Amino acid sequence: MKFVQNAWYVAGWALEFGDDLRRVTILAEHLVMYRDSHGTVVALEDRCPHRLLPLSMGRRVGDDIQCGYHGMTFDGTGKCVRVPGQDTIPPQAYVESYPVHERHDIVWVWMGARELANADNIFDMPEFTAPGWDAHQGGQLHLGSHYLNVAENLVDPAHVSFVHPTTLGSAASEDVVVEADTKADPIVAWRWIRDAPPVGFFQEFGGFNGNVDRWHYYYLHLPSTAVIDFGSAAVEERLAECDRDKGVRIFAIHFLTPVDETNTIDRWMHIRNTATNDDAVSRRMDDLFDIAFAEDKLILEAIQEEENRPAKRPPIRVSFDRGPNVYRKRIERLIAAERSAT
Ligand code: FES
Ligand SMILES: [Fe+2]
Repeated sequence: MKFVQNAWYVAGWALEFGDDLRRVTILAEHLVMYRDSHGTVVALEDRCPHRLLPLSMGRRVGDDIQCGYHGMTFDGTGKCVRVPGQDTIPPQAYVESYPVHERHDIVWVWMGARELANADNIFDMPEFTAPGWDAHQGGQLHLGSHYLNVAENLVDPAHVSFVHPTTLGSAASEDVVVEADTKADPIVAWRWIRDAPPVGFFQEFGGFNGNVDRWHYYYLHLPSTAVIDFGSAAVEERLAECDRDKGVRIFAIHFLTPVDETNTIDRWMHIRNTATNDDAVSRRMDDLFDIAFAEDKLILEAIQEEENRPAKRPPIRVSFDRGPNVYRKRIERLIAAERSAT
């Protein structure tokens, strides 16, 4: 399976977790998750060690989970604290627990070797909380597509002209060369489209009267978090690459959770430096992103279906694929390193 185990993955937005037992599937593993009475989110293996009933089908007893079949009860660390009808608890009566960390209203789970979990390695950026920026959680999109296909779409500025003509792209960018820094961490691919009419997003939110300089930077953090930094500035400003904060700048952040080999959840949010504290603008941006990401979903699910069918030859790669290429190589290297370490 093409999964990196030693990594933090998003299990959900903070609001998704309450008292109820919730099944969450990450890297083809089923977890049961809930928020305990102290407000801490717990993640346990969703399988009773007795007859394997998912614990998510049981019920909460205080901060513990009582299995719905014979009532064996497990605490938030996965330890069995009760076997009905007997006093002794067998040593094998436990479920695995997973490290959980909550930050910026996002719940992350560590899926690898417990001793390697370090919350300092969780993706972060100052604009989540910096003054002058507005962070807004958008939606969660289920894609019937392998996460590698979804992630490589997020280090791929070239598709935007063709897939998102009404929101994020236009024909003006079709032949603009994609730059990429494949040595960088995160991997980055980008391009500037100079002196062109604003695309749909910036017609609506930029207040521009004439042509703009527009940028698109796609940062891909392994294994599966993408930050798309895009924006526009009036041509007369002659904006330098390092001065993007002076334009209308939006970060679209995608947290990809690989569910299994052919399914991915993309939880996306945006952070912007314009119309801050304006909920109506946040919602309208959500609507435009919904349109754009539905366009990606259509493509990514269709190519997954083709990928599942027999092929006579491998897919080809061209010059603007440098970002996706290095991404896949790095993922393969990480997986190989994990395998050789075990
Ligand atoms: S299956 Fe859980 S207690 Fe029997
Ligand atoms: Fe896209």
